Amino acid sequence: MQRRRLRVSSLSLMRWLLSCAIGAIALGALMAVHQCEIGCRRWGGELRWAQELAPPKLSKLPTSTQKLGGAKEVSQFKKLWKPPSRRDFVPCVEPTSSYLPRSESRGYLLVYANGGLNQMRAGICDMVAVARLINATLVVPRLDKNSFWQDSSNFSDVFDEEHFIHSLSSDVKIIKKLPKELKGTTKAIMQFRSWSGVEYYQDEISRLWDDYLVILAAKSDSRLANNKLPSDIQKLRCRAFYKALRFAPQIEALGKLLVERMRSYGPYIALHLRYEKDMLAFSGCTYGLSPAEADELARIRENISYWKVKDIDPQEQRTKGYCPLTPKEVGIFLSSLGYPSNTPVYVAAGEIYGGDSHMAELEARFPILMSKTQCGSSRAADCHPSVDHKYTIDQKQVNQGDEVLYHT
Ligand SMILES: *[C@@H]1O[C@H](CO)[C@@H](O)[C@H](O)[C@H]1NC(C)=O
Ligand SMILES: *[C@@H]1O[C@H](CO)[C@@H](O)[C@H](O)[C@H]1NC(C)=O
Ligand SMILES: *[C@@H]1O[C@H](CO)[C@@H](O)[C@H](O)[C@H]1NC(C)=O
Repeated sequence: MQRRRLRVSSLSLMRWLLSCAIGAIALGALMAVHQCEIGCRRWGGELRWAQELAPPKLSKLPTSTQKLGGAKEVSQFKKLWKPPSRRDFVPCVEPTSSYLPRSESRGYLLVYANGGLNQMRAGICDMVAVARLINATLVVPRLDKNSFWQDSSNFSDVFDEEHFIHSLSSDVKIIKKLPKELKGTTKAIMQFRSWSGVEYYQDEISRLWDDYLVILAAKSDSRLANNKLPSDIQKLRCRAFYKALRFAPQIEALGKLLVERMRSYGPYIALHLRYEKDMLAFSGCTYGLSPAEADELARIRENISYWKVKDIDPQEQRTKGYCPLTPKEVGIFLSSLGYPSNTPVYVAAGEIYGGDSHMAELEARFPILMSKTQCGSSRAADCHPSVDHKYTIDQKQVNQGDEVLYHT
């Protein structure tokens, strides 16, 4: 168990680091609303699964914020914002012709989603596939309220619940609540084995139906195997992710508003700056922090029982490349890529640890630096660069807005 957790944490750590890097280069990712991250690739006539970054749409050149010199500069500027090649990837979430209607339900699958919103989202899609594999009726998952962010939102606060239920109705039966008469029934409480394939669920797990009517998945992050899944199960996961799990209308609306306001400055960079307290505490990265800050992070790590790795050498972490880029490093990185200092940057993240002092150097390089606090205000006029502004974020808005920006 311990070993598996270690592996999982280093995996999620790598994923975090990747998000940071991707965040840094996710140019205009905010503009590419709901584009498929996973697609099929035509390869000698055969469709194959592969991962691909969402190709951002090329937006119009900025007018007021950008003064361009000669033709060479214009062409360089265009190159900078050019969407990456689609390399023949096409969306392929629709079921194959051999996909059958859903089967008679054998029982109920309850899911306690765990982790941050992004992890929960991926986990929920896996659980949709699991419900299909074991012929279960899925009860709308419960979201994690104990994670670092202590977000009290329910499923329907974050996602469009009706849409989720209806759009998957031919795949899996989904209900909002466990029927009353089953509330007190004995449940099979399970932590599914991570990265299991179809056989594990169809054989081992569905055997539980012989004795139980309700299976409770105590965690949702026991990911389904990525390989050797039947194509229709893989497609179902994608349908759940890209079609069924839509944000609640009020979140969608706020996301659109932020994107519009940012776009009014021209093409912009959406930066998922993962220099946040939980990330630093979890990863043990203290480079550039004061001893008091490093102490605070160590105490947080000590206090969170489900973070298994406590004793971390910050120097070693950084040397191995396991640390998020500091805001300053991100600034250097973006400048080196060629982005001029008047490029608008949207910081999609929670509160940056150390606040102003750590943001100052990034802000000096890219003064048109905005956050959801500034852009999410009810007054459009408030969406202006944070030059000479304190970099502050209302935690409530972070909880509501963070993942919106991450995903849209
Ligand atoms: C699910 O239902 C289908 C159709 O009745 C059946 O073929 C399949 O074996 C069932 N799977 C499980 C795990 O119960
Ligand atoms: C979430 O749902 C529970 C139970 O249905 C309810 O008591 C609680 O108030 C809801 N929380 C929010 C933030 O709406
Ligand atoms: C946990 O946090 C509290 C205060 O937040 C602190 O007093 C306590 O020492 C911490 N526990 C550990 C094991 O560090």
